[in-house]
Amino acid sequence: MNVHDSEKVVGTLLARGYAQVETPDQAALILYNTCSIRDKAEQKVFSRLQQFRREAGKGRLFGVLGCVAQQEGERIFERAPHVNLVAGSASYSQLPQLLSRLESGDHRVTGLGLDREETFETPFTRRDNPYRAYITIIEGCDKACAYCVVPATRGPERSRSSHNILEEARQLAEAGSTEIQLLGQNVNSYRDPSARQWDFAALLMGVGEIPGIRRVRFTTSHPRDFSKDIVDAIDANPVLANHVHLPVQSGSSRVLAAMQRLYTREEYLRRIEWLKGARRKISITTDIIVGFPGETEADFAETLSLLDEVEYDSLFSFKYSPRPNTPAVNLEDRIPEEEKTRRLMILNERQRAIQIRRNTELIESLKEVLVEGRNASGQWVGRTLENRVLNFPGPDGNGHSLLGQYVRVRVTRAGPNSLAGEYAGLALGT
Ligand code: 5AD
Ligand code: SF4
Repeated sequence: MNVHDSEKVVGTLLARGYAQVETPDQAALILYNTCSIRDKAEQKVFSRLQQFRREAGKGRLFGVLGCVAQQEGERIFERAPHVNLVAGSASYSQLPQLLSRLESGDHRVTGLGLDREETFETPFTRRDNPYRAYITIIEGCDKACAYCVVPATRGPERSRSSHNILEEARQLAEAGSTEIQLLGQNVNSYRDPSARQWDFAALLMGVGEIPGIRRVRFTTSHPRDFSKDIVDAIDANPVLANHVHLPVQSGSSRVLAAMQRLYTREEYLRRIEWLKGARRKISITTDIIVGFPGETEADFAETLSLLDEVEYDSLFSFKYSPRPNTPAVNLEDRIPEEEKTRRLMILNERQRAIQIRRNTELIESLKEVLVEGRNASGQWVGRTLENRVLNFPGPDGNGHSLLGQYVRVRVTRAGPNSLAGEYAGLALGT
């Protein structure tokens, strides 16, 4: 989501006559997009701002964007007096006005409102990848997960009209994008504000029918709002990726209640049953937090048993990090840092074994990948529809670039995080 926000900001600047340069050294205006999901990300922002300080003497303007900007607001000017602009993502629609004020000589401007109805729609997005394009469908979040800064930094939920989303997707398809990734903090609570009142499953079907689009991905899903219709949509249209990222956070219903996640382990597993009952095999990935305040050894054991039960294709794991302005920040029963680290290592080891086993089962299968680039040893790197990384040497004696192409690859080897294979020709319909 931050990457895509940056694409929109860059597009807005280009439309005002700015040009992108290679290094901060060459820049007249430096904007730094930030994340505050965990403390480490936030610390990085302040150490980088210190590095930028010496640049300030050279007449450059500095802006801090994103969640740290929203969270810290004007305090950023105290900690880093060389900063000229502070704006959170909910105020990006005001960026042109904020830039005008900077350009006409104002030294400190802020965009910190969270109450904007409109999402940041700009006709000027400058997309980095010519084949895969992100589209924001919903901004903000109305949940109140006890550990999470997002409701405080990105504001309340606002859905975009399905007409605008489809129009943007059509234009992207015409410009050559073949893969669309629909973005939102919680895509499942998408509610079309236009008269046709589509829900997320209807939107998915709509985007999946646009000529030229070969893959549609989406992230992130909240288990509470994840409906069976989404699985039915994936089953009905092979263009919709057979991959669902369904963050669980913990396998213990007790911890889930403390996290205010609004579902139990059993309710979550019901969604997993829907996914596993699909006609197409659907890849399932998740996010897990270890060491939430009060998490006992028994709670953690339940998270481990959930890994065995679901057999995720991949997961992102995090040590709980207390965040300002969140319901959990003052909870007692903090878990010591070393204990969080121990749990994280056990979790990752358990998952690694599952991934090796699951990936090994794919050996000999034929996969279609979208080629995204080359790896360090010069092999092509592609991504399967299920979102697995597959490396393969180029076809013999064939010098032309496969970048952006859909090709078939036979899987020959499997590691925990990627697959390797042999080129087996261009994909059908290419
Ligand atoms: N501490 C640790 N991990 C967190 N996440 C969100 N907030 C925190 C926090 N305070 C993780 C969740 C979420 C992912 C994007 O980041 O697992 O799904
Ligand atoms: Fe954060 Fe929960 Fe909203 Fe996800 S659903 S953004 S974890 S508050």
